[in-house]
Amino acid sequence: NRLRHVDSMASLPSGAGSIRELNAVILGESLASEENHLVFPSDDFSKQALISSPQQYLEMYKRSIEDPSGFWSDIASNFYWKKKWDQNLIYSENLDVTKGDVSIQWFKGGITNICYNCLDANIESGNGDKIALYWQGNEPHVDGSLTYTQLLHRVCQLANFLKDNGVQKGDTVIIYLPMIMELPITMLACARIGAVHSVVFAGYSAESLHQRVMDCKPKIMITCNAVMRGKKTIDLKNIVDAALLESSQNGITVGLCLTFENESAMKKEATKWEKGRDIWWQDVVPKCSTICDVEWVDAEDPLFLLYTSGSTGKPKGVLHTTGGYMIYTATTFKYAFDYKDSDIYWCTADCGWITGHSYVTYGPLLNGATVVLYEGVPNYPDSGRCWEIVDKYKVTIFYTAPTLVRSLMRDGNEYVTRYSRKSLRILGSVGEPINPSAWRWFFNVVGDSRCPISDTWWQTETGGFMITPLPGAWPQKPGSATFPFFGVQPVIVDEKGNEIDGECSGYLCVKSSWPGAFRTLYGDHERYETTYFKAFPGYYFSGDGCSRDKDGYHWLTGRVDDVINVSGHRIGTAEVESALVSHPQCAEAAVVGVEHEVKGQGIYAFITLVEGVPYSEDLRKSLVLVVRSQIGAFAAPDKIHWAPSLPKTRSGKIMRRILRKIASRQLEELGDTSTLADPGVVDQLIALADS
Ligand code: WT7
Repeated sequence: NRLRHVDSMASLPSGAGSIRELNAVILGESLASEENHLVFPSDDFSKQALISSPQQYLEMYKRSIEDPSGFWSDIASNFYWKKKWDQNLIYSENLDVTKGDVSIQWFKGGITNICYNCLDANIESGNGDKIALYWQGNEPHVDGSLTYTQLLHRVCQLANFLKDNGVQKGDTVIIYLPMIMELPITMLACARIGAVHSVVFAGYSAESLHQRVMDCKPKIMITCNAVMRGKKTIDLKNIVDAALLESSQNGITVGLCLTFENESAMKKEATKWEKGRDIWWQDVVPKCSTICDVEWVDAEDPLFLLYTSGSTGKPKGVLHTTGGYMIYTATTFKYAFDYKDSDIYWCTADCGWITGHSYVTYGPLLNGATVVLYEGVPNYPDSGRCWEIVDKYKVTIFYTAPTLVRSLMRDGNEYVTRYSRKSLRILGSVGEPINPSAWRWFFNVVGDSRCPISDTWWQTETGGFMITPLPGAWPQKPGSATFPFFGVQPVIVDEKGNEIDGECSGYLCVKSSWPGAFRTLYGDHERYETTYFKAFPGYYFSGDGCSRDKDGYHWLTGRVDDVINVSGHRIGTAEVESALVSHPQCAEAAVVGVEHEVKGQGIYAFITLVEGVPYSEDLRKSLVLVVRSQIGAFAAPDKIHWAPSLPKTRSGKIMRRILRKIASRQLEELGDTSTLADPGVVDQLIALADS
């Protein structure tokens, strides 16, 4: 039975009045097992919700699995297609490496444009004067906004500029911008003309930016001179200059660097400039026409590339295409946030990550939503900033990451209760498992026990939500992402790849494709197949561990590969190690994730120095610095642990299991060390643990 994992929820009661009291009891005390904590949406909430009962969900879910063509056709018909997809073939797929190349296609033969659907289509349906973007600058008094019509004009101007400068359908554009309105504007302008955008998070170092330039060879670079994050000014243009210089020394020259003057952060005059290559956005873009024809593209034409970390050093260029991604992000946004036209939506993610692609830009705009963009950091000028913004814009849906919840929770309730927050109706969480205590604080303190939390499990690769609450449909359990979205068939498999049922835990895979799935890793289809489809043939393997409880709820347990998740950012241990060993005095490095109170996981590095080099505080600092400058500040190790040598098997493989135990000081749980080439290494490491 393909539906078995959700069948058990059919027996759950739908939101009932008396349940509110039950909630209060449940939330107040800590019961032995989290899986018995049911938190119900209120009756009023459920009544107005798009999906208001488990039964309604189950019906739709069943249809989405048994009749994907009918299900997705009905939804896709609400979008604008220049030409409809081949009616008899909504998707075709092969996920089984043993049967040939892995391939996924949706809405084949369909011709559309996602920018048209985000902007023109909403304007035509009467939303031209609705606010599309509210922009809140780092400083509380600096802000702005654009209606749908104004946004379209801005997008068209840039699209025309790109076309005039030779950017054509299929060309790549790298975007290295902070959270200013020009970031979504640039993404949409690329999409309008069929160019492939690759946004690089503006916290990545010059070295990382250079790597991405080398990989995707952009026609144009789009950046801004600087940004203020809290009290710090970050000179982005300097970083871009260094990256482009290194790239051109390695044979890839980017001829045009369009630079926006972010006046509130840095004046033109203070910006370094390369004549002939650099152009100020403000000098050229506003002169372009506000009308720009759409480039109609195939549903399977690439929309964007986004680099993410894997278990080996080289970042992976995750490629998403147009049609399926469009339908999927729009639909997941609508249902997981129970979207209403009157909502004001704020997602704190940066557009440099997938969350900012799918749920700052595309998903919300496809729904005609009003989106808040925030340039700054959550604790500037103080830890109440988020709630000040919520009150200022009357935010109704607030979507963030557990790391932010934990850090604000630590700063105390007064920062929250000082603000009304009464506009809030739904909260969201993404990036890592949200621990039940953070969940409760978010629910009770931020949401005044009124707002359901959509804890959305998904990945850069999945394009959109995979396992997520539908807030009015069923009770939540703090810390569980609950049930699969329409069309998604999660399976839990054991080591041998056998599906396991009922209450179980194992590796999380997905059977069958969904419209938002990534189609390949740019330029490396073989790595795509090896990383995601070889371990368990026939399935997409997520890299996450997961358990399912007696009611069918899913509980994500974190990565099972050499990827760590720091503040919701994915970092490959191998990437950090390769940065560390590039330090001339570092002979060897082994990096593991370790529990961190705020960040979820912290980066813990064991370092073996070159023979004869003494340990020192300065050296420790310069090792951290090398990671900051090669990857970015967010990847800086939290701890450097000196290691005269590393625990290795006789065949030379580092035993990370032991390093993880040492890092978390679970010294009684080291397990069997007899297979080590030199078991004495472990005692040496323990002795140096706090030096
Ligand atoms: C990894 C994907 C998807 C946008 C942000 C991160 C972890 C993500 C959850 C969640 C438990 C989660 C997983 C996943 N993750 N959301 N709600 N509960 N874990 O995207 O950088 O591609 O990272 O983030 O480990 O594999 P990403």
